[in-house]
Amino acid sequence: MAVSTKVIVRGGENKQIPRACRLRGFRMTSCAIFLQPAKIWRTLTYRFRDLLALEPLTADELRFLLDRSKPSQEIQKHPLKKLATLRGKTVALAFFENSTRTRISFGTAAARLGADTMNLQAEASSIKKGETLLDTAFNLNAMKPDCFVMRHSASGAADYVARHLDIPVVNAGDGTHEHPSQGLLDALTIRDRLGTMENLNVTILGDILHSRVARSNIHLLGKFGCRFTLCGPSIWVPRELEKIAPGVPIRCVYKMEEALEDAHVIIMLRVQTERLNDPPLSANDYILLYQLNAKRLRRAHRNAIVLHPGPINRGIEITPDVADGPQSCVLDQVTNGVAVRMAILYLVIAGASESGAHPALEARAAPSEESSKKTKESANAGD
Ligand code: NCD
Repeated sequence: MAVSTKVIVRGGENKQIPRACRLRGFRMTSCAIFLQPAKIWRTLTYRFRDLLALEPLTADELRFLLDRSKPSQEIQKHPLKKLATLRGKTVALAFFENSTRTRISFGTAAARLGADTMNLQAEASSIKKGETLLDTAFNLNAMKPDCFVMRHSASGAADYVARHLDIPVVNAGDGTHEHPSQGLLDALTIRDRLGTMENLNVTILGDILHSRVARSNIHLLGKFGCRFTLCGPSIWVPRELEKIAPGVPIRCVYKMEEALEDAHVIIMLRVQTERLNDPPLSANDYILLYQLNAKRLRRAHRNAIVLHPGPINRGIEITPDVADGPQSCVLDQVTNGVAVRMAILYLVIAGASESGAHPALEARAAPSEESSKKTKESANAGD
């Protein structure tokens, strides 16, 4: 017997969604394969239940998410950035693990969409008094937020909470598993800077074993034909990583000079000191063998770009001249993070708009009654 979860979809209609779909994090409401390609974008609407991981999503679903971030990128450039799209909605931000960028970015995204936020400060909360993860989640949920954004040090924690809550859950990083919004903002940054995110040589450097950022990047970019070179001390780059995404070319190498050869994209990772008992190398040896400096960067492709999810350990994994240099995308990533998270929050809270356009753009060019009737009819036909 299929277990199902009751959810309210846009329009107030109650529907039973099989739990598997909810765990998959995505639900497609239009049957795109029966439509002619030209019509797909007009009638294809995705409604998210949760966003827990990028691994189960298809290339079309991922591209859809990135395309939905575009209007939010435009809004960032506008002098008045606040919309009323999610006015009256509340986003719970439950960060059980430290965060600067991701927490503030989700908070800013919520504010720019007009939503209120509830903030859990893990250090100052009853978690310190022994309250369980689930009890904390139930209590926050009892204050009736419309979405639960959470970060936790345990892999699978977001998935676990999502099984118990009746509101959408967004994974803002779970242990060493995934960090979906980071994977999306990285892909958006790559696509903007290089004009494509397809068939690229992507080198990921550092503590890959413990990195949820590396996993989300591999699961996303791997679906667009990218090839991966993973490099770092052998204890952080075990050969088993070559098999984490079947069908995606992944190789592990242990010499940085070899790893950088012909790379289009270089993703630097922080040494995850909080997940280590014993660092495998001293800081000095790490710098000697694996620090990205200007000389080593010259081995990469002429137009290679450098990404880092932050926080950067300046002078350890990367030199300041590279971190702040013309090939670095570090601050673009942060800017794009707000846009991606606006798209995510909008899609999980309000669902995709029936015309496929961002509500901000719809407000600017309000469609005539006749055209919105037609869009509704064609969307229903594809349901
Ligand atoms: C990453 C994280 O926390 O997973 N940072 C982030 O979200 N900006 C990577 C890290 O902490 O090194």
